Amino acid sequence: MQYLAEAQRYQTMEYRRCGNSGLKLPAVSLGLWHNFGHIDVLENARNILRLAFDSGITHFDLANNYGPPPGSAEENFGTIYKDDFKCYRDELIISTKAGWGMWDGPYGDWGSKKYLVASLDQSLKRMGLDYVDIFYHHRPDPDTPLEETMSALDLIVRQGKALYVGISSYQPAEAAKAFEILKQLGTPCLIHQPKYSMFDRWVENGLMDLLSEKGVGCIPFSPLSQGLLTNKYLNGIPEGSRASSHRGNGAIDEEQVSKEKIYRVRQLNQLAEERGQKLAQMALAWILKDPRVTSVLIGVSKPEQVTDSLQCLKNYHFTQEELTRIEKILA
Ligand SMILES: NC(=O)c1ccc[n+]([C@@H]2O[C@H](COP(=O)([O-])OP(=O)(O)OC[C@H]3O[C@@H](n4cnc5c(N)ncnc54)[C@H](OP(=O)(O)O)[C@@H]3O)[C@@H](O)[C@H]2O)c1
Repeated sequence: MQYLAEAQRYQTMEYRRCGNSGLKLPAVSLGLWHNFGHIDVLENARNILRLAFDSGITHFDLANNYGPPPGSAEENFGTIYKDDFKCYRDELIISTKAGWGMWDGPYGDWGSKKYLVASLDQSLKRMGLDYVDIFYHHRPDPDTPLEETMSALDLIVRQGKALYVGISSYQPAEAAKAFEILKQLGTPCLIHQPKYSMFDRWVENGLMDLLSEKGVGCIPFSPLSQGLLTNKYLNGIPEGSRASSHRGNGAIDEEQVSKEKIYRVRQLNQLAEERGQKLAQMALAWILKDPRVTSVLIGVSKPEQVTDSLQCLKNYHFTQEELTRIEKILA
């Protein structure tokens, strides 16, 4: 049946300004890293995307290599976009990235201009788009001059193939250099996409301060530590969960669901219950409490998880006592 977006979709979502830019992003955005590939069920992916958009999630995040197999998340997104979202194009912020290995030979990985320009052309074809809203360099490349990678981002914007550019997983010093080069080129960096969760707090050592000082937005990925920061693994590893699925491509496996992690998860779960939240909601709220965060980038395997996680917006304020307790649990 033809999809018609929910009329009330902008009533409950919060939209935050992305750094100093003119762009606002939903406080919760949806990533298509896992559960949208050819190994997954297309109708489930469609239902997730529809529900997300109906709930005010206007930002979908992709990358050239998402799947598996690589490229298939963009292809599936393209199919669903054509059927359901084409008429809503101007209400959507669609991002993609290049920087991890995508095709054989010396031009399908890292950060050369040759790779980034060709990769975005391929992504646009797979998704059936004329342009993406945000194009990212997916990870720093120690062997390509930063000037070349940044000038590729600048070129892509000048070609009209992306409106804005971002970087992902850059440490503060290299991010600062990238921002400076992009500024000089006249294409300011819109956003940084770092990994950030209660279990991985490297961004607190300088990156968040830098982003706020430079007016660059921040969209943390894997905020639930791929599902560890939920109540899912409290009593073992359920069938069908990410840790049980052997998906590869960076997905957590059974070994990462360690006794030490679950010990902390139990205590966090207790605190979440006392706050009247589920652990997943508290873990997302804990990230959104920082006003320097533009949007938190979630992944889901089923539509219900979208609805569930969005409840984090109901309470992302923490008392000092709660914050101290969290610090103790994570120490
Ligand atoms: N820039 C980068 O290098 C990079 C790297 C990784 C990810 N990302 C981006 O970040 C996005 C999110 O990453 P992620 O998928 O790792 O995020 P995540 O939110 O940490 O983990 C998602 C997983 O958590 C579980 N989950 C989600 N909501 C839940 C809920 N309400 N209750 C219980 N379980 C829940 C699901 O696991 P089950 O599947 O077990 O149900 C889901 O697949 C990606 O899609 C991608 O766009 C970027």
